[in-house]
Amino acid sequence: MVSLAPITIAVHTLGRDSRGQLIEDVQRGLSASPKFLQPRWFYDDRGCELFDEITTLPEYYQTRTEMGILQQHARAIMEMVRPASIVELGAGTCTKSRVLIRAAKGMGSLWTFVPFDISEATLRRSASELSEEFDDLTLYCVTGEFDHHLSQIPRFGRQLIVFLGSTIGNFDGDDAHHFLAEVRRLLRPGDHFLIGADLVKSEADLIAAYDDSRGVTAEFNRNVLARINAELGADFDLQSFAHEVRWNDAEHRIEMHLRAERAQTVTIPAADLTARFEQGETLRTEVCVKHTRDTLEAALQSEGIEPVAWFTDSAERFGLLLAG
Ligand code: TRP
Repeated sequence: MVSLAPITIAVHTLGRDSRGQLIEDVQRGLSASPKFLQPRWFYDDRGCELFDEITTLPEYYQTRTEMGILQQHARAIMEMVRPASIVELGAGTCTKSRVLIRAAKGMGSLWTFVPFDISEATLRRSASELSEEFDDLTLYCVTGEFDHHLSQIPRFGRQLIVFLGSTIGNFDGDDAHHFLAEVRRLLRPGDHFLIGADLVKSEADLIAAYDDSRGVTAEFNRNVLARINAELGADFDLQSFAHEVRWNDAEHRIEMHLRAERAQTVTIPAADLTARFEQGETLRTEVCVKHTRDTLEAALQSEGIEPVAWFTDSAERFGLLLAG
């Protein structure tokens, strides 16, 4: 008989269903000029599946590069940090945190793992898998949103908060500052923060990472329209929207857009909305800000989080910053 670790799941919502929020975001984004949508709506079941596939594409170097850096340095990081608890923000499948958990467990310091994610189903699956590998690790899962529920994360002693996958780049405008300020509020003396960021590199390599030859990222991008069709009864013609990836040099960020190939009017009954697209007009679906060591350190420092150590791969494609 295998004894499984205790699993707690705390579910935080905004007190209204996610459909209500999708309607609000669609109304706001599609009546704005230029049009935009919040990236969180990518991640329905099909979107999560497509995203997992993206992380294995030859052009999408990020996931495997970050994993390589973690594998190489996990022990050194844990020796510096010696956490009683690891908190992962946006934990998803917890593939990367496993590497950190193993290293910390190997030193005998770790008692609790706190994965935080928007998807309850994903957390339940990850937690039950983790409890099989680590039968004496307490799992406290928190379901919530970055901009509302970070303050609900419980503290179990000296902690390492991790935020991987360059998700910091997906915040728009001031949202990254707000997010880091919230993280700062969770840190006590002796705690650490480990953040992963994709680094500035040649435009061609960056574009290819978001415009793969098999078209998986294009399908991922269009899937948000399929979702709005399915959930809000809209009549987006997916074939008439092209996947477009741009490098915005002034903001040093990749942008994903959906470009209307012909002028058209889309109706979204559940949102009580009609959206007019001119030919060539785009809907911006995501930004992915690219960092250097300096810009990442400055972003953390401006919120009072001090750099401690920097880890990168030999080609300096991706960086992990340990801070406290
Ligand atoms: N944060 C990662 C990135 O910016 C992963 C990611 C988020 C992503 N949205 C994406 C990757 C859309 C491809 C397409 O790259």
